[in-house]
Amino acid sequence: MSASPSSPRIEAAARLAGASRRSEIAPFIVMDVMERAARIEAAGGHVIHMEVGQPAASAPSTAREAARRALDHGRIGYTSALGIPSLRARIARHYGETYGVEVDPARVVVTTGSSSGFLLTFLAQFEPGDRVAIANPGYPPYRHILTALGCEPVLIETDAASRWVITPEALLDAHRRKPLKGVLVASPANPTGTMMRPQALAELVRTAESAGIRFISDEIYHGLDYAFPASTAAAISPEATIIHSFSKYFCMTGWRVGWMVMPQTLVRAVERLQQNLMISVPTLSQIAAEAAFDGASEMEAVKHGYEENRIILTTGLPAAGLPEFLPVDGAFYLYADVARFTDDSAAFARRLLDEAHVAATPGVDFDPHRGHHYLRLSYAGAPDEMREAVRRIGDFLRKG
Ligand SMILES: Cc1ncc(COP(=O)(O)O)c(C=O)c1O
Repeated sequence: MSASPSSPRIEAAARLAGASRRSEIAPFIVMDVMERAARIEAAGGHVIHMEVGQPAASAPSTAREAARRALDHGRIGYTSALGIPSLRARIARHYGETYGVEVDPARVVVTTGSSSGFLLTFLAQFEPGDRVAIANPGYPPYRHILTALGCEPVLIETDAASRWVITPEALLDAHRRKPLKGVLVASPANPTGTMMRPQALAELVRTAESAGIRFISDEIYHGLDYAFPASTAAAISPEATIIHSFSKYFCMTGWRVGWMVMPQTLVRAVERLQQNLMISVPTLSQIAAEAAFDGASEMEAVKHGYEENRIILTTGLPAAGLPEFLPVDGAFYLYADVARFTDDSAAFARRLLDEAHVAATPGVDFDPHRGHHYLRLSYAGAPDEMREAVRRIGDFLRKG
C-alpha cells in the first residue's frame, strides 16, 4: 500500500533527503560551459578553451621528479597539520627572495589549495553573521564560502574610476553603514585581471586595520604580473592574512596545495581547525610543492607564453571588433565589455561556443549586478590557439 502525500512517513523522508539551507549556494556557471564544450568536442569539433582558469602546462619537472622519488621511497603518511617544516621554511624564504620581506616560517600554514585556506581563515577569524567586504566583480567562491559559513559577503562595487579595486573610501562607507569584520582583496584579480598599485594596497590595508577590519589578501596570481610588479600585503602588515597557492604560477591546480601567511596570534586556531577538518595536506603534493620552487626557469617560460597571449589578445581583439576590456594587468584573464552586443552574457557565451567554438565564461558568474554585460576570456592556453580565437571571434562578431 502506498503512503498518501501528506503522510508523516513521507514528510519525515523529505526532511531527511533535503540539503541544509546553508548549502544552497549558486553553482559555478563555467562548469555548464565546459560540459557544452565537451559535447561539441565529442562530436568532433575543435573548441578553444578560454573558459577555464588553469594553466595548460604541467607542474615543473622538479616537482614531478620529487613526487616520483617519494612514491618509490614507499610510505606516504600524514604530516604535521601546519605542513612539512622544510616546505614552510621554503615558503618563508620565498618572501625574502621575491619581495625582500622577512616572514617567520612559524606563520606559514600549508593548505589544500588556497580554497581550504579561505575555509580555515574565515573559520578562524569570523563568527556567523559577521560582514566581510569583497570586490564586485570577484571570484564567486568568496561569496559562497562566506555564505555557507553563515557570514555575510558585502559586495563593494568597483569600476573604471576605482581601477576596479576596493578603495579606502568605499570600504569606510560600507563600514559606516553597518560594521564590517573583514575585507578580502585579490591582486591580480579574477575575473578582471586587474591589479592594485602598491600605494593603493598599502592604503587599503592601513585603512582597514585602523578601522578594526581584518585584512585578507588573496595573492594566488602573484608571479603572473605584467603591467607592474605585484606587491604583497605581508610587506605592509604582520596582521594581514596572505592566501597563496601552487595552482597558478606553479601550474599545480590538481595537486591541491597552497599556503597562508597568518598573523602569529591566529596560527594555533588554524592549526586546531586543520587538525580536525583535514588532519594534514596531501603529503605527496607538499613534497612536490617544495621542489617546485626549483623549477623557476620552466615557470618563467610558461609566464612568457602568457605575456605573448596577452599581446595577441590586447592587439587582436580591438581589431576583431571587441575593443573594450579592463586593464589587462596580471593573472591570465581578460574581462571584456560586450554590452554593445548583448544584454545576456550567458546566451552570448553559448552562441560564441556553439557557432565559433570558442568557450568563454559569462560575467554573471562573477558579478550578479553587471555581469550580463561582460565575458571573461582566459589566456592560459597556447599562443597559436589565441590567434585562432581572435580570428574566430572576429568572424563571429562580423556575422552578428
Ligand atoms: C582568485 C582565486 N582565488 C582562489 C582560487 C582557488 O584556487 P586553488 O584552490 O586551486 O588554490 C582561484 C581559482 O581559480 C582563484 O581564481
